Amino acid sequence: MHVIYHQDELIKVLRSLPRMAFVPTMGNLHEGHLTLIEEAKKRKDHVIVSIFINPLQFNSEEDFQKYPRTLEHDLSMLKKINVSFVFTPSENDIIDKSNTIQINLPEIAHDLCGKFRPGHFNGVAIIICKLFNLIQPEVAFFGKKDFQQLFLIKEITRQLNYPIEIIGIDTIRDQDGLAKSSRNNLLTAGNRKKAPQLFEIMNNMKEKVIEKSMPIKEIEETAIKHLNGSGWLVDYFSIRSAKSLQKPLHDENHMIILGAATLGSVRLIDNIEFCIHH
Ligand code: PAF
Repeated sequence: MHVIYHQDELIKVLRSLPRMAFVPTMGNLHEGHLTLIEEAKKRKDHVIVSIFINPLQFNSEEDFQKYPRTLEHDLSMLKKINVSFVFTPSENDIIDKSNTIQINLPEIAHDLCGKFRPGHFNGVAIIICKLFNLIQPEVAFFGKKDFQQLFLIKEITRQLNYPIEIIGIDTIRDQDGLAKSSRNNLLTAGNRKKAPQLFEIMNNMKEKVIEKSMPIKEIEETAIKHLNGSGWLVDYFSIRSAKSLQKPLHDENHMIILGAATLGSVRLIDNIEFCIHH
């Protein structure tokens, strides 16, 4: 495994190699990331993983500072599973000091998580474009847990003509249903026990949508009230079209329920995608 710390070296090394499969990460790797890497390996002989905690996508300095940093452990995990290349640049290496160029994203970037984390997806978009430009992969893998991120990355790739295939991989969960996330490590033991409530309530919402036993808006409001009453602070629960991320049409059949809520000081997100027959 070749660990690359600078973009100059990356450019030199990749120049003579065929295009690879790419898995971008912010480190603190868990089973979710390992699944992305396994899928990437099925597609290409060489997989490149990036590890970069991107300051541009955090809304507060505090959130950025407390994000788990476990580079040595991450590298040893990646070595064990025979990843070919790891790119882990410093902030100075990859982010220009002036950073004056912004990417204007579609409206949906300011809805759902974007509404509660202003500028978050613009930060993601900039780092993803930088990494795509430097690595020029043939195919890139992203988790469906960050469904809105995946949606926007597909949009960026299409609208900016990146010749890269974007593949979304299903969320990996702990046995109790909690979606794997680096942020789970920040939960207290008590809150870790409580955390599966997020997925449970989304499953309840899904049943209600399928049964059509309540109007969509009421299903969302009931879930918000319920979770807020159990000690969470809900940002949103929203039932959308999985294709457009807009409010579902009355004959919509591919749906997604997205949610974000804070437990203690840890903000968790999740979603459930499903089909409904009319
Ligand atoms: O999903 C993540 O870990 C990050 O948002 C990503 C895609 C690596 C960009 O920093």
